[in-house]
Amino acid sequence: MSIPTRPAVLFVCLGNICRSPMAEGVFRLAAQEAGLDVEVESAGTGDWHVGNPPDPRAQATAQRYGVDISHYAARQVEPGDFRHFTHIFALDHHNLADLRAIAPSQGQAELALLLDLVDGRQGQSVGDPYYGGDEGFEQTWADVSAAAQALVKRLGA
Ligand code: 4NP
Repeated sequence: MSIPTRPAVLFVCLGNICRSPMAEGVFRLAAQEAGLDVEVESAGTGDWHVGNPPDPRAQATAQRYGVDISHYAARQVEPGDFRHFTHIFALDHHNLADLRAIAPSQGQAELALLLDLVDGRQGQSVGDPYYGGDEGFEQTWADVSAAAQALVKRLGA
């Protein structure tokens, strides 16, 4: 009899200051509310913002929905993450390609686009809100929330 692995989920975007911390925050809350025992983290493919808290606009958007992400600190994804995590979700196609390029041959993690979890959104990217206005952060929140609900259902089944 094998011991089931506790799921460990990593969300990955470019800077780890906008989209993936929002995905981490909303999924942490959804998993907690569902009583799901799961490890959750986020990371970026780039290293520009390592150690920084989420973008103030991402923090404010999450806060409006009751989620505090102000204490998160950005980190860069590393090949070892493919061995530690069971699921790695890329926020967009560039992130997915960058992740495939560093994935070790013996990683256990299932790698997919985040919106592949959402019916009717398969193959789509979560748009990068960094250079746009506040409405971009609202759209990001809607996208990562839909994915979080779908992931809770899938892992809880
Ligand atoms: P994120 O957004 O990948 O959703 O965290 C970005 C953050 C920073 C930059 C680009 C996107 N940047 O170019 O610094």
